[in-house]
Amino acid sequence: MSNHLLFENIDEPGLNTLDVYRARGGYAMAEQALAMARDSIITALKDSGLRGRGGAGFPTGLKASFIPQGKMDKYLVCNADESEPGTFKDRELIQKNPHSLIEGMIIAAYAVGANKSFIFIRGEYQQQAEILEAAIAEAKEAGLLGPNVLGRGVELDMWVHRGAGAYICGEETGLLDALEGRRGNPRLKPPFPANQGLYQGPTLLNNVETLTAITYILKVGAEAYSAMGVEKSSGTKLISVSGNVKRPGNYEIELGMTGRDIIYGLAGGIEDDREVLLWFPGGSSSPVLTKDDLDTPYDYDSLAGAGTMLGSGAIIVADDRNSVVDIAVKTASFYKHESCGKCTPCREGTSWTTKLLKRIQSGEATPMDLDVIDSVCDQIQGNCLCVLGDAMAMPVSSMVRKFRPQFEAHIESARIANEQRLLAELDEQEPVLQGIGAL
Ligand SMILES: Cc1cc2nc3c(=O)[nH]c(=O)nc-3n(C[C@H](O)[C@H](O)[C@H](O)COP(=O)(O)O)c2cc1C
Ligand code: SF4
Repeated sequence: MSNHLLFENIDEPGLNTLDVYRARGGYAMAEQALAMARDSIITALKDSGLRGRGGAGFPTGLKASFIPQGKMDKYLVCNADESEPGTFKDRELIQKNPHSLIEGMIIAAYAVGANKSFIFIRGEYQQQAEILEAAIAEAKEAGLLGPNVLGRGVELDMWVHRGAGAYICGEETGLLDALEGRRGNPRLKPPFPANQGLYQGPTLLNNVETLTAITYILKVGAEAYSAMGVEKSSGTKLISVSGNVKRPGNYEIELGMTGRDIIYGLAGGIEDDREVLLWFPGGSSSPVLTKDDLDTPYDYDSLAGAGTMLGSGAIIVADDRNSVVDIAVKTASFYKHESCGKCTPCREGTSWTTKLLKRIQSGEATPMDLDVIDSVCDQIQGNCLCVLGDAMAMPVSSMVRKFRPQFEAHIESARIANEQRLLAELDEQEPVLQGIGAL
């Protein structure tokens, strides 16, 4: 079932302005929250069952409860890097309803006692960064941000920080390094950001959609929110559907509907009524599924049970006109390019996998190279500082395992094509060679 919560009124003209947002009841939840005990907000988040929407699906209330109490400086950071290929839901939220994010951040910051907050937004989202800046300025002017939020004696400053365009800056500790002005390199964990994050201080770091959902959880109540979706995957989720579908775009769904209902229902089915070859259920780093998996319920546990993950909620569909070899090359090349190089299995493994896949693509491989790829991917997984290495190894090894006959057929046909091309070249050179022989 499709259910609008975060996307309620999303296409209303002017919703990005404070006047229209307030006319629709905006900031009433921030007012309500600031009159509540901080603990009871965290309890509501736990009761709602909300899980982080940035990719890892970690329980949001639990993460907020890790922030230590006390008078030290604490920070709230919003991850608006949205760098996972196929993901474009945060962009729409920010562009059309920036105040719902700001309101969620006011509530979250108050709950953990943070009085400085940052929105780290990917460099390419210039328009969205400007929309956020304008919304923050309006909120400051109206006393919703600043030294005395809503006249309640609570202080909260908010800044927008634009990234310089690196996938790794979406990883939470790489993001913190970048926010501090350094090259975005992941940090060793623990310590986790909740204890030692920005400027070494306790930091609550959440995705745009997660923070926005907080506003709506208070609006409908934790119980009603947890009743949506399915057990352990409660509430609604914004999903970005792209690839060979008739109606690509962002949709808000209740977790638990099937992949088929999403791809054939909401997204209108496959272009030119072709068959599904494969689909990534959670961005390009999720292991791929096939047309046989279309009836898998779209929730955290069911997708984990199918050997994949919900990730950022980005469904990328490839129809049967695509070559799985080309998709694997493209996927591996992206992660090779984005690897920060800090640890060997990821730096070397993404590079070697890409080389091997390109060798397969150009007809210079043997089926044994498929086993080498599988082994390289195995050695990357679980052996890196962050999960970027796994983000390449998981989808690539899933493609190699599920589509081995297609890979082998490509190796053979590309080898034959290469041989024929070489023979033709030799034929062309024959008169020259004969001429040389006659000298
Ligand atoms: C390589 C890599 C890239 C990531 N990119 C993003 C991103 O663009 N946006 C995001 O919210 N989380 C991203 N994450 C996940 C974050 O590290 C972090 O788990 C998330 O922002 C926490 O917020 P949440 O609990 O609200 O999901 C990425 C993780 C990795 C390993
Ligand atoms: S896994 Fe890759 S991106 Fe992550 S720290 Fe290691 S080298 Fe860098």
